Amino acid sequence: MASSGATGDLSQRTGRTAAIVPAAGRGERLGPGAPKALRLLGGQPMLVHAVRALAASRVVDLVVVAAPEESVDEVAALLNDHDLGADASVVQGGETRQDSVARALLTLPDDVDIVLVHDAARPLVPVEVVNAVVAAVADGHPAVVPALAVVDTVKEVDEGSVVTRTIERDRLRAIQTPQGFARAVLQRAHAEADLGVTDDAGLVEALGIPVLVIPGHEEAFKVTRPFDFVIAEAVLARRRESRGG
Ligand code: C5P
Repeated sequence: MASSGATGDLSQRTGRTAAIVPAAGRGERLGPGAPKALRLLGGQPMLVHAVRALAASRVVDLVVVAAPEESVDEVAALLNDHDLGADASVVQGGETRQDSVARALLTLPDDVDIVLVHDAARPLVPVEVVNAVVAAVADGHPAVVPALAVVDTVKEVDEGSVVTRTIERDRLRAIQTPQGFARAVLQRAHAEADLGVTDDAGLVEALGIPVLVIPGHEEAFKVTRPFDFVIAEAVLARRRESRGG
């Protein structure tokens, strides 16, 4: 059991677990079209896959989606019309991912004590990863992120694209979502840290609170560029085959 001074003992918890899904990005790296979260994968919006993936974990009690301003009604209808397996609501997203998460955080009921933050752009995360993140937070870790080892050699470059250094690969991790937090820690991180970071764990790190890394999964990859859709469709096809239909 890890100690979590900022949060108290979550192993005795009676609280609920909420998942926040930032889905308000434009998806510019995908090219023109609908907001990324609403683009179709296997005939269904990516967002629906992402919410179902979270709800597949019996430990997730409710889901709050941060939607693009112009799509709030459309997303509310989507969440209403699909059988998702968990209570789901929608808030208007913000200018940045960090703003979108902060807006959703404000709407959580008081009895939520663990919060997951999961990119809509990672629609195929396996339920085992969701469960493992929640279990580690419930075990007392204030912040938990799934990750994979980095397979490419990573180099830093200057403005002229000339390499300035090569980073030791063995110590690098590619961080995925869902990221899990004791609610009090995530709220404090959003209130106190304002760094323009690209994930929530980055805010927690800035407070000097330890962030535990646990094994992620290849299928939790982020759909960012057109080729990622090809991979995502292939993963869905393989899942259909293994279910026998
Ligand atoms: O841009 P990036 O790929 O890092 O976005 C990660 C996630 O954050 C996506 O699911 C995207 O929809 C979401 N996002 C958001 N609000 C923004 C920008 C991104 O909810 N203003």
